Amino acid sequence: MKKVRVFAPASIANLGCGFDIMGLALDEVGDILDMTLEEGEGISIINGTDVPLPEDPEANVITPVIRKFFEMTGLSGRIEVCICQKIYPGSGIGSSAASSAAAAYGVNELFDCPLSEEELVVCAMEGENLASGGYHADNAAPALMGGIVMIRGYEPLDLIKLPVPGNFYCAVIHPAIVVSTKEARSILPKAVPMHDAVRQWGNVGGLVAGLYSGNIGLIGRAMRDYVAEPYRKQFIPGFDELRAAVLESGALAMNIAGSGPSVFALADRGETAQKAGAIMKTHFDRLGIPYEAYVVKVSNKGAKLLAR
Ligand code: HSE
Repeated sequence: MKKVRVFAPASIANLGCGFDIMGLALDEVGDILDMTLEEGEGISIINGTDVPLPEDPEANVITPVIRKFFEMTGLSGRIEVCICQKIYPGSGIGSSAASSAAAAYGVNELFDCPLSEEELVVCAMEGENLASGGYHADNAAPALMGGIVMIRGYEPLDLIKLPVPGNFYCAVIHPAIVVSTKEARSILPKAVPMHDAVRQWGNVGGLVAGLYSGNIGLIGRAMRDYVAEPYRKQFIPGFDELRAAVLESGALAMNIAGSGPSVFALADRGETAQKAGAIMKTHFDRLGIPYEAYVVKVSNKGAKLLAR
């Protein structure tokens, strides 16, 4: 029998303008899995947390990730997974990706790492597909690789790790509003007007240039999203007023985290992120909506082994 304990971080997808192609990993917050390998075949999952998760293993993102690993490697074995720490599903900070990334990383460790990091992202995307009905890697890739990752293309998968400016903080608030990724994807139009597409790809280029040059002002103004946010902000009461107040406080940008309902603000100083976080809390307090809030540093670390 072999056993590992693995961690994969929470992540924020899209980063405003990078719908489905950009995401970053957060420090400290994440999922922890204990995984064991025994002789035989099959996958069993125990939920050791009080976070509600599907009882049927076929409905848990971990199962298709492990199956994809077996398919890609030709290996087999009996895998038992105990979920020891879990980000609340539907929070918008990559809950399904954290489980998927941890499962991919853990099963690879159990078999002495036959797959590359990029191949593990392919495995983790199976979990994302089960959770959201789409093969997107903008949470799974940073959850595995850490830092800020851009997906240049999906066919074939072409991942680019972008530089993270030294002091990069994120204020994240998760209001108690239910927004499923499936629903938040289904409301998006199938076509983007040319005018919006031009603004969006200008911003993606600007964001990448800003990250490489460390130009904080450019990063901030490039994060505006013209593709998904106009349709999704309806789920977040008072989104425009909240953003105006957060930007006024000195944050670089404020956007929906992934498909929401979490909202995040980026700042180049811890104090500014704290201020932005306080404004977000006041906003949801006034609306009488409970929330969870964090101020965390953007992490350069992705999935990791905690114990063997
Ligand atoms: N890029 C995905 C979306 C992320 O916005 O639907 C889901 O967390």
